[in-house]
Amino acid sequence: MHQPTRLVVLVSGSGTNLQALLDACADPAYGARVVAVGADREDIEGLARAERAGIPTFVRKVSDFETREGWDASLTTVVERFEPDLVVSAGFMKLLAPEFLDRFLTLNTHPALCPAFPGMHGPRDALEHGVKVTGATLFVVDAGVDTGPIVAQVPVEVADDDDVASLHERIKTAERAMLVDAVGRIARDGITVDGRRVRIGAGAR
Ligand code: GRF
Repeated sequence: MHQPTRLVVLVSGSGTNLQALLDACADPAYGARVVAVGADREDIEGLARAERAGIPTFVRKVSDFETREGWDASLTTVVERFEPDLVVSAGFMKLLAPEFLDRFLTLNTHPALCPAFPGMHGPRDALEHGVKVTGATLFVVDAGVDTGPIVAQVPVEVADDDDVASLHERIKTAERAMLVDAVGRIARDGITVDGRRVRIGAGAR
């Protein structure tokens, strides 16, 4: 068995997606381990989850830097220190610089079925549009907002009595399972990104 795939996970909030990865990584057969967790703010549950699991953490706040470029460069440097094979942006609320994305294969989860409802309010926008099915998308981060090549998607039905919170919670349950499944398969079997087409497995690595 090859060395576990090294994951750096970036968070900005409650970190339930991070927790799902931490739980999965407890099984050596999963094929990955979280080597560090980074955040753009302090005092969040995502960081506390990492600390409880004994995982190194780092915080880079944009307000601590004179320029956004300075923040971008610092984030790249600190992530590089942990030599990740894969970066997972799991509820991380900052756009990542092209230099960061050139350096690290980075996946992000979005609580809608891309290309529908990109941006900060996927569940709200889906509800307001009246769709009957929405879901979650795992994608390779590119320069756009939720526009990158799609790795995995999971559908979630919208209930008549849903509000934004109930819909987002149901999406998040499906999203966590999708993330754990896809990251594990990538860790064990590899990933190939060919333009917009993403393939997991078949010797891709
Ligand atoms: C997820 O739904 C993610 O897609 C969105 O924010 C939520 C983060 O949840 N961007 P958590 O911090 O992993 O609990």
